[in-house]
Amino acid sequence: MTDIGIIGMEVYFPNTYVDQEELEVAYGVGKGKHTIGLGQHKMAFASDREDINSIAMTVLSNLVNNYGIDWKDIGRLEIGTETLIDKSKSTKTCLMELFKNSGNHDVEGVTTYNACYGGTNALFNTLNWIESSAWDGRYGVVIAADLAVYSKGNARATGGAGAVAMLIGENAPLVIESSIRSSFMDNQYDFYKPDPNSEYPTVDGVLSQNTYLNALTKCYAGIKSKSLAHGKEDISLKDTDYFCFHSPYSKLVQKAFAQLYVEDLNQGVLTPSPELQEKIEETKGNFKDKALNKLVTKESKTLWNEKTNMSLHLGQNCGNSYTGSLYFCLMSLICDPTVDLTDKRVLLFSYGSGCASSMFTIRGNAEYTQIRDTSDFHDRLGNRIKKSPEFYEEIMAER
Ligand code: ACO
Repeated sequence: MTDIGIIGMEVYFPNTYVDQEELEVAYGVGKGKHTIGLGQHKMAFASDREDINSIAMTVLSNLVNNYGIDWKDIGRLEIGTETLIDKSKSTKTCLMELFKNSGNHDVEGVTTYNACYGGTNALFNTLNWIESSAWDGRYGVVIAADLAVYSKGNARATGGAGAVAMLIGENAPLVIESSIRSSFMDNQYDFYKPDPNSEYPTVDGVLSQNTYLNALTKCYAGIKSKSLAHGKEDISLKDTDYFCFHSPYSKLVQKAFAQLYVEDLNQGVLTPSPELQEKIEETKGNFKDKALNKLVTKESKTLWNEKTNMSLHLGQNCGNSYTGSLYFCLMSLICDPTVDLTDKRVLLFSYGSGCASSMFTIRGNAEYTQIRDTSDFHDRLGNRIKKSPEFYEEIMAER
């Protein structure tokens, strides 16, 4: 088994969205709160014509058709989602409808969930299957899909919707470097869904941001030391070509990048400018200090623009797709015309509240462009229908 990883990828999002500038007006928040403060442009949403099962079916059938796969050639299918519409029957079983005509019922895997992390767990399970003695030589398919909706209030503008399907197998153009990955798991109540009668989460916004950033720091330290122990290349903002982060909203990703900049400064991998050095001494290196934080963000801007900013395209225009969010970032990177992933390394950070998080790396080879050539998401994104905030609120009430 060589070069196990991602052979093909498809993304799907509903064809209706609401504009974040219009939401700022409708919600009576200051101009720029959503677009600058959160860094979001548009938020995708589904009407009552779609649910988690249907968007997962759509993305799966698009993957199979666009890559010319025979349904019989899929030996494992696992979906990560936190949009649960049944407490027993998994979305995976609904996806089996699509296999019926082929007669293939020998398809391992079910639905896996933990907030925004389920897709990554599904991916790791699938990689483990291919590396195991149970592997029968067929493809694995991983789906990460969610409809993210919040109750009225500040969090509502950080909703979104989307689905990603990934074809996993040998000799892949995007190789997942399974030998070096690091995780941070903990028991936290930052975002959870304790009420079975409501699809809205209970959210402690500040705790969720802090838990995310703490998990990020722990995973970064873990993957750095594992990489060193395995005699692999250094992992740092300087040495790694691109970064994809779980993106509930873009501003948090920029904060995450600045946090990694701080970690690299602390380890002496990066050298601060005289101005930043002075501020570090003045604040005794307290990176919670707003002025220091601002300076770090400013100083990390060049690396941010070179290595991460372009990964946010789908997220900024569809919002948070929970489990799909990280893979929306990967797809945005793959399909960005200014990016060439050949022989390049991408570091990915997956986070799910509660909390479960992992960091891992992917290396591209020249054939990865087939994924870019197969996708039509830029056209679909441009052809969506804009709906008013009032219409969005009606849909939310209807749900
Ligand atoms: N113009 C420009 N920026 C503005 C404006 C304005 N008019 N008004 C506010 N801002 C800035 C603020 O200064 C703040 O920036 P900072 O983060 O750099 O300090 C930013 O906009 C956000 O404003 P706040 O008032 O701090 O945030 P709010 O109370 O709206 O809550 C939050 C934001 C916590 C993200 C909320 O939307 C939420 O709870 N979302 C769901 C939870 C979430 O996404 N957590 C992230 C990880 S867990 C997950 O993935 C679900």
